[in-house]
Amino acid sequence: MDNLLEEKLKHLRQLTEEQMLAIIDKSFPCYLYDPMRYVVTAGGKKLRPLLLLMVCEALGESISHALPAAAAIEMVHDFSLVHDDIMDHDDLRRGRLTVHKKWDESVAILAGDGLLVYAFRALSRCPPQVVPRLLDMFSSSIIAVCEGQSLDKTFEQQDQVSLQEYKEMILLKTGKLFGLSCEMGAVLANGNQDQVDAMRSFGEHLGTVFQIQDDLLDLTATEMNLGKDVGSDIKEGKKTWPVLHFIQHARPDQLQAFERLTNGHVGPDQILEIVELFSKAGSIQAAEQSLRQELETLRNALQILPDNQASAALRQIVALIEKRDR
Ligand code: IPE
Ligand code: IPE
Ligand code: MG
Ligand code: MG
Ligand code: MG
Repeated sequence: MDNLLEEKLKHLRQLTEEQMLAIIDKSFPCYLYDPMRYVVTAGGKKLRPLLLLMVCEALGESISHALPAAAAIEMVHDFSLVHDDIMDHDDLRRGRLTVHKKWDESVAILAGDGLLVYAFRALSRCPPQVVPRLLDMFSSSIIAVCEGQSLDKTFEQQDQVSLQEYKEMILLKTGKLFGLSCEMGAVLANGNQDQVDAMRSFGEHLGTVFQIQDDLLDLTATEMNLGKDVGSDIKEGKKTWPVLHFIQHARPDQLQAFERLTNGHVGPDQILEIVELFSKAGSIQAAEQSLRQELETLRNALQILPDNQASAALRQIVALIEKRDR
């Protein structure tokens, strides 16, 4: 990747983190603020703020105008991760213990709540003329995340989930926040309605592809690279893209083998066997191929933006996503 762009993205990640820390301006009680800072300073790819800032700049507005919104979107994302880790019973996040493992569930519930409310505080620091419009789209997207997370949990108990139902669920739980990031970037740059709509739909599409890739990485990545629990989706009975593909395409004996492997204790050995089973049924390759095609389409969708350094950075973000192993 171009060194200059790499440096730019690194700088923007840092600015976003500084902005989040500036908004969380209290320390007492420590069981609320310590875990909030623990999450905010844990790194993470910061894709949503990067998208927001780069769309804003690509459309001609300076990023300083958009930093409070960038902080707001990352804090919403952090809130959703802290609660998601309780719901998914995970121990690792960004290479560290999850908040409910390092402290306990009560602490994690409150830290998540705190991050969500501070996110609204960050949003209120955006330029006053756009705050009402941003507030409306911001709250709608967070409602969508909660709806998606609810469906995700419901599907764990449901034997039959169609690909269509799965796609609606991931659009809500992940696509909408990516869509919001790009849409807010366009609104903050005072883009026209066509640009705002195009950026929202680009973001929603990117977010759903990102979630399918996340489902795949849950099986194929190493814990060391991913910084999260590997095989967590299988343990929880999630209906992910590879699982749905496998159920639709596997032979009866392969389906039986899958059932046997998921019936008892699911540890690293069982996950390895499941990956091999999925691979033999073509489900891993099908996911990879579909991801490549979708990401190519997404890169082309960016052509509607002016040709400048920020739109080049957006294409780099798509390239980074394509290559990611965490
Ligand atoms: C994880 O998101 C949750 C999903 C929507 C899959 P990221 O992969 O963007 O998490 P961080 O912020 O980089 O840790
Ligand atoms: C997306 O799903 C999570 C949110 C919308 C918060 P996952 O549960 O797959 O995310 P990871 O894999 O734990 O990061
Ligand atoms: Mg999870
Ligand atoms: Mg989850
Ligand atoms: Mg996941």
